[in-house]
Amino acid sequence: MSDLHLPLDRAAGRLAAQIAAGFRGAVRSGRLAAGTRLPSSRDLARDLEVSRGVVVTAYEQLIAEGFLTARRGDGTRVAELARPERPEPPAAPEPAPAASVAKPAYDLRPGHPDVASFPRERWAAALRAVLRTVPHEDLLDYPDPAGAPTLRAELAGYLGRVRAAAVTPGQITIMNGVAHGLSALARLLPAEGHTALALEDPTSDRQLPMLEATGIRLERVRVDAEGLDVAALRRTGARAVLVTPAHQYPTGVVLSPGRRAELIAWAREVDGLVIEDDYDAEFRYDRDPVGCLQGVDPERVVLVGSVSKALAPALRLGWAAAPPRLAARLREHRLNTDLGAPSLEQHALAHYLSGGGYDRHLRTMRRRYRARRDALVEALREHVPEATVHGVSAGIHLYVELPRGTDEAAVVAAAAEAGVAVTGATATWSTGRAAAAPPALVLGYAGLNEARLARAAALLGAAVTLGARG
Ligand SMILES: Cc1ncc(COP(=O)(O)O)c(C=O)c1O
Repeated sequence: MSDLHLPLDRAAGRLAAQIAAGFRGAVRSGRLAAGTRLPSSRDLARDLEVSRGVVVTAYEQLIAEGFLTARRGDGTRVAELARPERPEPPAAPEPAPAASVAKPAYDLRPGHPDVASFPRERWAAALRAVLRTVPHEDLLDYPDPAGAPTLRAELAGYLGRVRAAAVTPGQITIMNGVAHGLSALARLLPAEGHTALALEDPTSDRQLPMLEATGIRLERVRVDAEGLDVAALRRTGARAVLVTPAHQYPTGVVLSPGRRAELIAWAREVDGLVIEDDYDAEFRYDRDPVGCLQGVDPERVVLVGSVSKALAPALRLGWAAAPPRLAARLREHRLNTDLGAPSLEQHALAHYLSGGGYDRHLRTMRRRYRARRDALVEALREHVPEATVHGVSAGIHLYVELPRGTDEAAVVAAAAEAGVAVTGATATWSTGRAAAAPPALVLGYAGLNEARLARAAALLGAAVTLGARG
């Protein structure tokens, strides 16, 4: 037997001929594609339990026939000329992938950190270190579905230090990013006695379909200059709410101290649950970060965060820090749905956190993003003076209101034409409120340096002028 599925009838003899016939069939049927590298004669002989000479004979025969090629240093491969006899099945139509769209010269779409700043060398070093040092069972067997204990311990310290959270490792469940954390929590709400989940209006249009897919009734609650309107929340009758207190998405409002107090008071009064989406809270520029709500009332608030904005979204590494009963349910959810998060990356993050690398990287990125924010705000002031810029104090995006009457879609289209990708805010509002909301753009500035941001703002200014004429 071998991985190549070459059946051998030992009683029938002529083993080399049988092997050659097996390969011919596999190549003709397309099962072995042109270019496929074959095992060395030694390895295949071992797999098939035949002498090496038998395989060498079969390979030589197939090379002579043109089915295989052999080159020094490149091993034996299925020949390019060995086309399968069977026609290729028609390819499924490709969905229109974002990747096939030409990459914009200036990408100001929100939600993306500067992936070019990812600390590749340090991450590689962390991976190497854990591969060298962590015992096999801890690193490579099925992980604890709540997450690697060492990562949860590091995160509890980090969240206390950086976000003023009150979290023990036992309250943390490792999730595949904030998105996964929120989806899982929304699915667990009915078992916790909730029939509805309130969420902000406007809200993340990327997150919204994920929450809708969970089946829980969603109640949209207006956001004003102080953040979530808690009186309006009260009127919905929902006892669970999803909020972005550190930097409301997309408006960028920081929940005011008064509203924070009101929200906690509401949760205590209705025996409610606050889900705190802390998606970009590490980035606060003009004064100390506002501590998370979870630290104020750990019994009523679930803190959900990730490394997506601080390191890279591709890692899909995040956490939910929940009151103990809900934490147990989240762990059970991972156990019942996917058996937990990839272990190697969890250990690498724990290593990176424990060595202080994560905190250092954050400090570097805070400085870099702050300079970029300043450059974009300044350039918008110059090139789009009629706009009102919100949400500057934190995060990695701005909410830019355009004068009433401006055609938001026309601005987005004109900007795209000029090579600047921007996102309109309309999709973030509920249908009921979208018409009344001023036209606006949500601009992510993390990925462009100051000079490129200034150039993008100049091009955007021209697009806004076109959109105003609309
Ligand atoms: C408000 C908000 N929440 C959650 C997410 C998802 O983050 P994650 O990559 O951690 O799933 C995003 C992504 O942009 C976001 O904008």
